[in-house]
This record gives sequence, structure tokens and C-alpha cells, in this order.
Amino acid sequence: MTTLTPILSATWDDPRSWTLETYERAGGYAALKKALGMSKEDLVQLTKDSGLRGRGGAGFPTGMKWGFLPPPDGGPRYLVVNADESEPGTCKDIPLMMANPQVLIEGVAITSFAIGCDHAFIYLRGEVVHVYRRLLRAVEEAYAAGHLGKDIHGSGFNLDVTVHAGAGAYICGEETALLDSLEGRRGQPRLKPPFPAVAGLYARPTVVNNVESIASVPSIVSGGADWFGGMGTEKSKGYGIFSLSGHVTRPGQYEAPLGITLRELLDMAGGIRNGHELKFWTPGGSSTPLFTQEHLDVPLDFESVGAAGSMLGTRALQIFDETTCVVRAVDRWTDFYKHESCGKCTPCREGTWWLKQIMGRLEHGQGTEEDLDKLLDICDNVLGRAFCALGDGATSPITSSIKYFRDEYVAHLTQGGCPFDRDAATVFATNQKVNA
Ligand SMILES: Cc1cc2nc3c(=O)[nH]c(=O)nc-3n(C[C@H](O)[C@H](O)[C@H](O)COP(=O)(O)O)c2cc1C
Ligand code: SF4
Repeated sequence: MTTLTPILSATWDDPRSWTLETYERAGGYAALKKALGMSKEDLVQLTKDSGLRGRGGAGFPTGMKWGFLPPPDGGPRYLVVNADESEPGTCKDIPLMMANPQVLIEGVAITSFAIGCDHAFIYLRGEVVHVYRRLLRAVEEAYAAGHLGKDIHGSGFNLDVTVHAGAGAYICGEETALLDSLEGRRGQPRLKPPFPAVAGLYARPTVVNNVESIASVPSIVSGGADWFGGMGTEKSKGYGIFSLSGHVTRPGQYEAPLGITLRELLDMAGGIRNGHELKFWTPGGSSTPLFTQEHLDVPLDFESVGAAGSMLGTRALQIFDETTCVVRAVDRWTDFYKHESCGKCTPCREGTWWLKQIMGRLEHGQGTEEDLDKLLDICDNVLGRAFCALGDGATSPITSSIKYFRDEYVAHLTQGGCPFDRDAATVFATNQKVNA
């Protein structure tokens, strides 16, 4: 039985867990002091050796990304933390920044030192004003304590941190759209190459990393590469935050080694809500193909989830029981992708609009069986042909739900509407009786 590994979340239950005082009492900023005594090269190598892979979805090796920066040329180079977190179901970075913003700031300081950056940015989705305020206060506290600013801990290293609140667009989580937005332009993905490591923010070498990736760095500096690699699987090392939401008895954040299974996580979370059973779930947010009961024992690491036909993504485990209409759920996600498509490329701009039209009429029992083939055909024309991964992501819930639940789509047609409308009313009435 795999057990939880509370590391980033170790102090979340402490009183005023977000303060610098609480963080330092638990050993916070010891890693920064240690890192400042190391060489930049050793820090990059340590991160490579640890096997840490990006926690923002794609799983790219973090140390390798830092190693892509060209040699210093005397000009600025930047660290940009991606705190946009806007995918449906994904909800790990925001609780992390609320409960323990200092671990992110310590990670920012260590990473900036390692890559030779003296101005780092945290790009936050602006709708979460409470997180924005918390980050601003945490940065202020870190400056006052000498963890940021000039000559940090007498090392000669200077670092300024700017927290930027975006206007709230899913596409601004895509790293190059984020950079355009941070520069003051409309957020749309850039053509790559050049990659941000070569020409990123203000056309200067830039590392873009997810909140959780950067927040994991202090623990690697303190614990070492072997300690970190001792958790997880051979190619997906370390721990991560698994966010359980939906029809589960105790939803929340479960920090565990990569490779844990949903069955194990559900055991810890009290199972599916009382009297119900698992129907479908997302392993990594709405852009990752759906899984069903048959995938309960798939190890949640990058390789195993990929081999089973989905993606680990952001470990956003959205759990749906048998009372949920899969067609309705997919229709809602499709609406989201249509709304959030930035419009830059035709396959996604037009494709997501058509997907929404067809999904909508199917859900209301107004389509035909040919519509299912049309959906798959449009998905085929978007997947791999769109300019960025948003387009690909829009197709995942549709193709996977048709693969596993084609009968349910057909039932909407034969019954002239959503078969769950009646069932949902029955379930509601039963619950009312039980609760009375
Ligand atoms: C539409 C879209 C939205 C994304 N949103 C986020 C996000 O909110 N946070 C994030 O870290 N990465 C997001 N990504 C992935 C980033 O482009 C990038 O891979 C990531 O920030 C790299 O950090 P990592 O290597 O530490 O994972 C998104 C990608 C796409 C295509
Ligand atoms: S895939 Fe969608 S979000 Fe990405 S560039 Fe094209 S239109 Fe914009």
C-alpha cells in the first residue's frame, strides 16, 4: 500500500501556515542558504539527477530545461513561474500558494540563483484575488527577511520578484501566450522555435516552470537527488499533489509518490460517495482522455497513464459516479474549450465551435447517429493540426467518451433527450427522503 508523502503540504494544517514565521519554524529557507553555498552548475546537475519532471502537465525534465539556457552574455535572463492554473479540475497550485506561498518563493530564489536570473516573475491567474494578495504579502515578508532583494544572505546574489495578475484566460497558461500576456500583449501562443530558453520574455533567455515544479526545488536541495528519486517510479520520480474532486467522500489534495493508483487514493479519500459507484474520471484534468472503472489500478505516473491511453497531466482526478451524464459533462467541457480558444488557428477556432454545436444538440436529443462520426471526424482534423495543445485537449473528452460510452450518446437520440434527467430527479428525491 502506497502511503502519502506530505512535503509541500506538510504544514498546511498549522495555524497561519502561510506566514514566513510558520515556514521558517518548519525549516524553511535552510535550502536557500545551502544552495547559495553551491555552484550554479551543481544546482542544475542536482535537479537533473533528481529526475524532477515538470508538474504543469507535459512532464518535461526540469533540470534539462534549465540546462537549455545559452551561456550568460551579460544581459538579463528570466525565471517565469506559471501560476495560471485554469484547466477545469486542476486545483493544486492555488491551494499550495494559499497555504504555503513561502515554499514557492524559496524555490524561485534557488532556481533564479541556479540559472543566473536577477528578476523573476510569478504569473498568476488574476481572478484569484485572494491568492494575489497572499503572494504579494509573502513576497514582502521575504524581502524584509533578506531572502529576496540585494545581496541575499551576504552571497552577493540579487533577486527581485514581481507578482503579475493576468486577466484570466486559459490560453495564458500556455507558456508562450503567457509571455506575450506578461509583456502586455493579447495572450496568444508564439511560433516555436525559438523556444523560451533562447528567446522568451522580452526576447531574452527564459525558464518557464509550473508552481509545483519550482516549489519542489527546496526539498530536492535539502533532501538530495537520491531521496527524491527514492519516491515514485523509475521514470516518474518524486512526489506530487493529486487533487481529488467530484463524487468522492473526502475530496481534497493528496500528496503522494507518483505511481500511486486511483484505487489507493480512493481508499484514503473514503471511496466514492455513499451508495454510488465510479463511472468515469479524468487522470489529469479535462484535456486528458477519460478513464473508467477498468483503470482503477493504472499507476498514476507519466508512462503508465500514457500506455493506458491518457495523460497524467496535472493529476486533477475528477471523479464522476453513475448519476452523471457523460454527454452532458463532455458538452460542458466542450463549451469551455470553445470559449477559451484564442482564435489564432483555424482548426481550433472553427473546430471547437462546431464541436460545441454538435455536442449541444446531441445532449438535447436533437442530433443523429451520423453526428457521432462527424464529431470524431472533426476531432481528427483538430488533433495534431492545431497551433497549440489547447486544440488537442478539446478533442480528448469527446473521443474518449465516445470510445467508452457510445451507447449513452445513442440513448440520448433514441429517447429524444438526456436519459439522466429522469434518473437525476429520482436520485434527488431519494436523497431528500433519506435526509428528512
Ligand atoms: C492551453 C494550455 C494551458 C496551460 N496552462 C498551464 C498552467 O496553467 N500552468 C502550467 O504550469 N502549465 C500550463 N500549461 C503548460 C505550459 O505551456 C508549460 O508546459 C508549463 O508551464 C511548463 O512548466 P513545467 O515544465 O514546470 O511543467 C498549459 C498549456 C496549454 C497548452
Ligand atoms: S489551438 Fe486554439 S488556443 Fe491554440 S493557438 Fe490555435 S486557436 Fe489558439
